[in-house]
Amino acid sequence: MQEFDVIVLGAGAAGLFCAIEAAKRGRKTLVLDNGKRIGRKILMSGGGRCNFTNMYASPANYLSNNPHFCKSALSRYTQWDFIALVQQYGIAYHEKTLGQLFCDDSAKDIVDMLQQECNKAGVQIALQQDITAVKALEQGGYQLDTVAVSRRCHSLVVATGGLSLPNLGATAFGFQLAEQFGLNVLPVRAGLVPLTWQPADKAVFEEISGVSLPVTAEANDVVFPEDMLFTHRGLSGPAILQISSFWQPGDDLIINLSPQQDLHGFLQEQQQQHPDQELKTILSRLLPKRLVEKLLEVKVFTNQPIKALQGKALQKLADSLTHYVFKPNGTEGYRTAEVTLGGVDTNELSSKTMEAKKQPGLYFIGEVVDVTGWLGGYNFQWAWASGWVAGQYC
Ligand code: FDA
Repeated sequence: MQEFDVIVLGAGAAGLFCAIEAAKRGRKTLVLDNGKRIGRKILMSGGGRCNFTNMYASPANYLSNNPHFCKSALSRYTQWDFIALVQQYGIAYHEKTLGQLFCDDSAKDIVDMLQQECNKAGVQIALQQDITAVKALEQGGYQLDTVAVSRRCHSLVVATGGLSLPNLGATAFGFQLAEQFGLNVLPVRAGLVPLTWQPADKAVFEEISGVSLPVTAEANDVVFPEDMLFTHRGLSGPAILQISSFWQPGDDLIINLSPQQDLHGFLQEQQQQHPDQELKTILSRLLPKRLVEKLLEVKVFTNQPIKALQGKALQKLADSLTHYVFKPNGTEGYRTAEVTLGGVDTNELSSKTMEAKKQPGLYFIGEVVDVTGWLGGYNFQWAWASGWVAGQYC
């Protein structure tokens, strides 16, 4: 029987950060993971450069059944604290856009930094661990079994993440553990994920796969202005990934194809200057030509000289392009999703410590909890912040 003060399940962003903090407090800390190496998602995040935080991270950038829950952790360990750590390690980074900070070289810099912090603090790490049972002990604390070994700890921290990318070791273990101890788990679904076509849309739009343009994407009264990408399977790009977390099956997805220009004004101007020009030519000044051809095919407009659009017809055309409604079939699911929405109900946890209210010594941190960030470094910031606060108490 091996004894520890703290066992952390999951060597991802949240688990490693929590373990470092706990070990710094002198707690004998072990991290267990089912994979062959630590920080696997960090390594592939941000296209291999890890968007490790966001300069503008605030509670408003998170989805949760209780939007107030994340405030405490995010205010106690901020993006500026993590940036200071990155600077301390001399890791070169840059702002890509909208406050998103990426490594200049490689996401491996972040994992190496975490490994060094673990070494410095004396965190032990055991990889390729297949946990077969977890039980609470009568005298307090927990026992975790693998086929080979049983271990005991005073505090058990669950940082097993969500369900996205099952081929990277994602499991439902954290949710199952919460349920085993009587904690409520809110329904989960894929977030920050491409949306897929209905068959009729696929037949038309898959041919323009690769076309990208700035749009605003709207669902359920939430709007994101960013780029949208047509793919063989549906719609992707940052605007779509962002809105996917707010979109539910059956909802409309409203796209403004010309968010940066007053489209009605543009069309009026064109009508005056080039009355004989065809709409296809005129719209191609504003939108990718291949998209304009598809809009013609689905009869958003008929190709005629612009002077033919009289009365309200010009406004109607502008409206149909600024409120283009797609009815996505669904999402690409956990195979490509960056995050899992839902998870361990925050009502079950202390926002100060991340400890389960009705199960002393059991903590949940990171993505397994019902706190999900927007695209742009917010999810790692939640992992660091929730891991850091739990590390002060576990
Ligand atoms: P995480 O999933 O990182 O770690 C959980 C760990 O638990 C894993 O190592 C897993 O193997 C282990 N585990 C699971 N089940 C287990 C079991 N039964 N037994 C033992 N171990 C188990 N976010 C962001 O802010 N910026 C970005 O650039 C990106 N980019 C990005 C790209 C891609 C492709 C994905 C899929 C995701 C992102 N994200 C992101 C999201 C971000 O990666 C994610 O929110 C955090 O990694 C969550 O950290 P956690 O530590 O909670 O879970």
